[in-house]
Order: sequence, then structure tokens, then C-alpha cells
Amino acid sequence: MNHAIFEKNSLILLIGVLIVVSIGGIVEIAPLFMLQSTIEKVQGMRPYSPLELAGRDIYLREGCYNCHSQMIRSLRDEVERYGHYSLAAESMYDHPFQWGSKRTGPDLARVGGKFSDSWHVEHMINPRAVVPASIMPGYPFLGQTPLDYSNVADRMKALRLAGVPYTDEMISNAKADLEAQITPDTKAAKDLAQRYPKAQIRKFDGNTAADAPPTELDAMIAYLQMLGTLVDFTKYDASGPNLR
Ligand code: HEC
Repeated sequence: MNHAIFEKNSLILLIGVLIVVSIGGIVEIAPLFMLQSTIEKVQGMRPYSPLELAGRDIYLREGCYNCHSQMIRSLRDEVERYGHYSLAAESMYDHPFQWGSKRTGPDLARVGGKFSDSWHVEHMINPRAVVPASIMPGYPFLGQTPLDYSNVADRMKALRLAGVPYTDEMISNAKADLEAQITPDTKAAKDLAQRYPKAQIRKFDGNTAADAPPTELDAMIAYLQMLGTLVDFTKYDASGPNLR
């Protein structure tokens, strides 16, 4: 028997194992180096607007990812509950990504547009006010805390280093764009919508007094209402070339 030589000599067995494993490894890994990117570009994805980005930072600060995932798996029960399964491109501007590893609460990848702003306001202040059996903690301070966005342009610059395609124009207008997103029907709001297609522009926290500053709650709800709304799934075809 030819393989007796492998079975009787551990060193030759080891070399044999290494050869077999590296063939398998090359077959799996080498094609990845030939691809320009493992993430297919998908129409509609854009970097987060400054207000959405600020909301995302609060989402990280408060540890929402400890209870919420943002990754819908391609399993029937998930797709029926949450909508189209998540695409890699939908996380491509997330540094770090927010797929999460635990679902104490529901997946949030497509929560945008599911509830009204006022629902979110109530839910953030006291989840039990709208979902009596909820075990989610309240975050009542978000609505009372003016948003600190003094360094939002720097945050965008840092993300640009990580590969997010923020332009110089986006960075130099960061603060103005952030303020514009809560002041609809202004010239600044129009500019913002040009730079960030599909940006939702309104006062999110319900406090519409003319001089009301952007709050942390504005940022949080702007972020939540955007999640999952950028890609148009009536135009996306997951079965083949993805742009129709
Ligand atoms: C201790 C775990 C926990 C933490 C931390 C937590 N949540 Fe939740 N969340 C839940 C649970 C449980 C639910 C389902 C009940 C409900 O709607 O309140 C939920 C529901 C939600 C919903 C409604 C989702 C839907 O589709 O019904 C949103 C939006 C949400 N959470 C946002 C957040 C945000 C933003 C944070 C961070 C500021 C956060 N959660 C932190 C547990 C948590």
C-alpha cells in the first residue's frame, strides 16, 4: 500500500498534510487577490450625512450594538420579518461595522421609516411607553443634551483615511450640513440634499422652536430613520448583475 509510508513516518505525514492544505488554501484565497473588491457596488449607497454620522457615534457610545444587530441573514424567517437580507455594500462605510453578535432586541438594519419620529422620541425616553413589555433601557437624556458637533469634520476626515469617499466639499460644509438637516426648506437644506441623496430633512426630536439647537436625539433619530433606506430594492436584483 502506497500510503503506508505516510502512516509510518510522522514527518512525511506532516509534509503531506501541509501540501494538501495549502492547495485547498490557494484555491480559496488566491481568487480574492484577483478581485478589485469583495464588495459589489450597489446603487444608492452613500457616506452618512454629518447628522447621521453623529447619531451613529451616539449609537456606539451608548452601546446599542450590545442588544441590536444590523445584519439580516439570508434566511427565510429573517427576510420575512425584517426585509431584504443585508448586502455587504450596506456596511461598506461603517467603521467599525455594526453587524453585532447579539439580538436582545430586534435587528435594526431596516428600521428606517418603520416608525414615526414621535414614536422614536417616546421610545427613546421610555420604551415602556410604547412597548409595555420592553426591557430596553430608556435614554431620556438624549433629548435634553445639545449635540456636540464641533469635531464632526475631523471625524469625517478620519473616515476618509479609512476609505469612505467624503469629498473636500463635504468636509468643509460638515457643520453647515449638520445644521441644515434639521432646518427644512432652506438653501442650505437643498445643498445638503444634493450632497447626500435621500437625506431626510426635518427636526427629528419634535422640538420645532425656531432657535432649538440640534440635540443628541435629533442625531440618533436621523440615523435610525436612514438605516436600510438608501438602497432601492425595487431596482436591485440579487440574482445577477446588480444594476438594472
Ligand atoms: C438591554 C438591551 C437593549 C439596549 C442596550 C438597547 N435596546 Fe433597543 N430594544 C431592545 C428590546 C428588547 C427591544 C424590543 C422592545 C421594544 O421595542 O422596546 C428594542 C427595540 C428597539 C427599537 C425598535 C425596533 C423595532 O423594529 O421594533 C429601536 C429603534 C431600538 N430598540 C433602538 C435602540 C437604540 C438606538 C439603542 C441605544 C441608544 C438601544 N435600542 C439600546 C433592547 C435594547
